Parts: sequence; structure tokens; C-alpha cells
Amino acid sequence: MLNLSSRAVQLTTEARVPPFLPVRTRATIAQEALHFALSQPPSAWTAYYSFDGLLVPPEIIEKDPFLTALARIRDFRTGIIRLPAQSCYNWHVDSDRNATINMILQTGVSHCLFLDGEFGLTVRVKELKYQPNTYYVFNTQCLHIVANLEGDRYMLTLEFQGKDKAVTFDALCADIRALVG
Ligand SMILES: [Fe+2]
Repeated sequence: MLNLSSRAVQLTTEARVPPFLPVRTRATIAQEALHFALSQPPSAWTAYYSFDGLLVPPEIIEKDPFLTALARIRDFRTGIIRLPAQSCYNWHVDSDRNATINMILQTGVSHCLFLDGEFGLTVRVKELKYQPNTYYVFNTQCLHIVANLEGDRYMLTLEFQGKDKAVTFDALCADIRALVG
């Protein structure tokens, strides 16, 4: 991830193009993935950009029909990231990925906001209101911010790798339409 001063970032988001897309199939592993995360010792968590992170074992991923289908066409690994309570991941675009797929596992009061228009001291925003057991394709190249106001926040997130390291939001949306409509 990066802050706004570390490289040229487009400070406008096209409001006509939503920067996220819910996947219209129900995830089946949210509870198991959360249980896995909550049962890990502190030593299992490693620094992942500005989050704590850990990888989800393949035996959990393989139980999810959507991720199993996606894995046939895209190369990715699946992690869980934790953002502590009373913290904010400031405005940024992700430095090492063009897009991802996320699913909230547990949160109290938290908000994920995308810039909607021009960046400035006051901004318009579009909120991604995560629904449980739901994957979202996420355009990480649109400016976004996460404010976590209550309780640790656990998010399942994909990191595309190998031939698919640079996969774009549009390409992933096309995959989703082909897989689940
Ligand atoms: Fe991000």
C-alpha cells in the first residue's frame, strides 16, 4: 500500500463506474475462516502491509465452490487481514495489486469508503457496505480508506500472483460474470 505522497495517484474517481462489485453467490467458508483466524496464536500473524495477516490453509479454501471455480482460471493465494479497533487505514491505492476480492469475516463498526469525485479537504465518498458471506471484487486502484471504530476487523482477501499478478478490476468482473452471472 502507499500513501498519497509516495507516487503520483489519480485523485479523481469516476463516479459512473462503481469501484466494487458483489459476487452473486454465497460464500460457504466465512465461519470456518474466521474460526481459523481467531484460533491462531499471536506468533502466526505476520506484518502484511499495514495489517496483521495470515494465510488461509488450502483445505479451507477447497470447501468454497466459488473460490474453487476461480482457482481454475486465476492464480491466487488467500489471506486474512486484521485491522485493530480504533484505527484508520488512511487514503491510499494498493501498491502491489490492481484488484482483489474481499469478504468481511467479522467487524464491529467499520467503514470502507471510496473517493467519489475530486480529492480534497472535503470529499464525496461511496461506501462499500460489506454484507456477510459475500465476496466483492474490489478496485484497489481507486482511492479508498478504512475506518475501524469498534472491535478488531477481520477480512478475507485474495492476492493474485504469478501470471495473474497484474489482473485488473475489469478482468475480474468479467471472470465473475462468466462464473456466476
Ligand atoms: Fe487498500
